[in-house]
Amino acid sequence: MFENVPAYAGDPILSLNEDFQRDPRTDKVNLSIGMYFDEAGRLPVMSAVQAVEASLLEAAAPRGYLPMAGHAGYRDAAQALVFGANHEARLAGRIATLQTLGGSGALKVAADFLHRHLPASQIWISDPSWENHRVVFEGAGLTVNTYPYYDPQTGGLRFDAMRAAIDSLPERSVVLLHACCHNPTGVDLDRAQWAELIPVLQRRKLIAFVDMAYQGFGDGLDEDAACVRSLADAGVPLIVASSFSKNFSLYGERCGALSVVCRDADEAQRVLGQLTFAIRSNYSNPPTHGAKLVAGVLSNAALRAAWESELASMRQRIKSMRGRMHEGLAGLVDDVMRERYTSQVGMFTYTGLSEGQVERLRAEHGIYLLRSGRMCVAGLNQQNVGYVVSAIALVAANRDAQK
Ligand code: LMR
Repeated sequence: MFENVPAYAGDPILSLNEDFQRDPRTDKVNLSIGMYFDEAGRLPVMSAVQAVEASLLEAAAPRGYLPMAGHAGYRDAAQALVFGANHEARLAGRIATLQTLGGSGALKVAADFLHRHLPASQIWISDPSWENHRVVFEGAGLTVNTYPYYDPQTGGLRFDAMRAAIDSLPERSVVLLHACCHNPTGVDLDRAQWAELIPVLQRRKLIAFVDMAYQGFGDGLDEDAACVRSLADAGVPLIVASSFSKNFSLYGERCGALSVVCRDADEAQRVLGQLTFAIRSNYSNPPTHGAKLVAGVLSNAALRAAWESELASMRQRIKSMRGRMHEGLAGLVDDVMRERYTSQVGMFTYTGLSEGQVERLRAEHGIYLLRSGRMCVAGLNQQNVGYVVSAIALVAANRDAQK
């Protein structure tokens, strides 16, 4: 029956991470997957999360089904974190927010919704974008196109080309934007560029679909969400996929949220209903544990403060590793390749290393980056950063290895 099923080529991120786990070398370094590792190379278990977890264990509550749309306290807390507790759209009941299976689950539920209710709309993603965006959207039946974004010559943004491309899209097109810490390039729009782009989305009657998987890893929780709030203020039809995988270090608990900002509360109720239907038809309802952890932290002032301060030190540690790379590579690689460690933001740096150089880093030095040259800076620490700098200097010096 299944003789014609082809082999799976593997996923450029998750399969590579599995290869890393199998690599027997003791000095190997994982800079592939977007996960935050601490100074000791471990995934943190945040102290506020541990406190809620201990109280959940004690309570030993029964494990019934959650409602299809998810845990009520979690949904409210997730919405407040994205939009700000007192945002007008939130107070007016104009935002439909649901609990989803991580940020990916939010993307899929929204994609199913768009495919069903706006069947003529196509989606535009940045060139490049997170490797799984195209997979999820095409899997849901959407047509996926790209708009210009990254400039390999400068390691920065092609903002004029991006704005011009978006300015020529058909009405009701969906534009996928990254709120902060762009994945994979680490190149974000600044405030002035957002202020220029938002009226274009508005005037062209486009739908903004913002992916915010890294809130808190750029400049801060509110700063990173500023573009989302400005889009909502401007009245642009808005979908937001958000995630607690990274900022709560709860990857495996699959804690995400999907929010759709509507014109009024009545529209929001109808959209909520159809999104609920999309959840039922995918996986019925989300799991309880992670939702209780997040809601427990965010609803308690002391735990929330502890979480925010731990997150701030994670953000700082990433910045200091960026500084170490920048410093270490001085005189070893050209300035364009070096400057990006401090000009790009968040967990990722698009190193500018070629596929051949990335392969040499893996094969000869046990250092894992994505084939695209994306490096997860959050995998660096004081112990391995010097080793990584020397290995990059070695492979970057040998131009013959470039493809
Ligand atoms: C990444 O980009 O590495 C992360 O978002 C993990 C994933 O699922 O791809």
